[in-house]
Amino acid sequence: MHESVQHYYGKLLQKTSDLKTSACCDPTSLPAWLKPLLARVSPEVLARYYGCGLVAPLLLDGCRVLDLGCGTGRDCYVLAQLVGAQGQVLGVDMTAEQLAVAKAHLDEHAERFGYANVAFRQGYIEDLAALGLADASFDVIVSNCVINLSPDKDSVLREAYRLLKPGGELYFSDVYADRRLDPALREDEVLYGECLGGALYWNDFEHLARRHGFADPRLVEDRPLSIDDPQLADKLGEARFFSATYRLFKLDGLEPACEDYGQAVIYRGSIPGAASAFVLDKHHHIETGRVFPVCGNTWRMLKDSRFAEHFVFIGDFSRHFGIFQGCGKALPFDQRSAPGTPASCC
Ligand SMILES: C[S@@+](CC[C@H](N)C(=O)[O-])C[C@H]1O[C@@H](n2cnc3c(N)ncnc32)[C@H](O)[C@@H]1O
Repeated sequence: MHESVQHYYGKLLQKTSDLKTSACCDPTSLPAWLKPLLARVSPEVLARYYGCGLVAPLLLDGCRVLDLGCGTGRDCYVLAQLVGAQGQVLGVDMTAEQLAVAKAHLDEHAERFGYANVAFRQGYIEDLAALGLADASFDVIVSNCVINLSPDKDSVLREAYRLLKPGGELYFSDVYADRRLDPALREDEVLYGECLGGALYWNDFEHLARRHGFADPRLVEDRPLSIDDPQLADKLGEARFFSATYRLFKLDGLEPACEDYGQAVIYRGSIPGAASAFVLDKHHHIETGRVFPVCGNTWRMLKDSRFAEHFVFIGDFSRHFGIFQGCGKALPFDQRSAPGTPASCC
């Protein structure tokens, strides 16, 4: 599988427009703050962008960031500007041709930014120990349309968890299916290379993430993908595909469900680029200055991570009030007894 993907990205594709579906490119409008950063990235790098989402979480200044499957380095060169001179970005990819383009532009970007904080290494994202990358050595790991291409997604998640510092996060975009796909689709080089054949059923992905220690996967944004090529669409049948960005925090103490301890946070409005509100995920748009009730897991994602100083925290874990309402799970028991039923069994 690795060889087939290397052939696809190293030999067959030369530019973004060679892709046959909208799976590996990102037609969503970019946020205004990102445009000047992208404008400083080399046109040759931009022309070979094959990502499917935006992997630029807030508050990266000074962070050490790893990009899994960096390709020609578009995201690395954007992230380099976000982490700044005190931060570092490492891009890893297995395809020599992709990395050759990325590396050819290192000096040019360092000169433009005024600092050299990017490096690229050739390797497999399933085995980052082979590159000597140490446990708990990255603040943030990103990836853009890559994990679907891995034949061993367990190892990718295991390695990401190992490499993150406590409180760090894997923030990544990828392609998901609405169902488990026929394994035969994985044998089709084009479907696989186009990030469809290897896509996980979204719920299997969420279970996989939990199994590897990321107890509460948070969906940040998503969009449906259109398969416009009739031959590809025919092979895929009724399956539907989505590009989605998840953030997975490495945090001790996250619980399997959102539990209510009566806690709340107030966002100070102090994160650069987020003056009026902070968006943690699709369900948490936290307006500046407002008392915002949170479950225990959201509390920990804000309190035990790089975001802590930007929030006021109200409450603690001393009293439990049951399941947090509106987080997908609810009390499973009927709350009123049927008429004529004795109040108790004893
Ligand atoms: C769809 S492209 C995305 C590239 C880049 N993230 C971007 O946004 O342009 C997928 C990239 O992942 C790399 N890749 C796929 N599987 C990999 C693996 N198991 N280990 C390392 N790199 C991998 C490919 O070589 C290719 O460059």
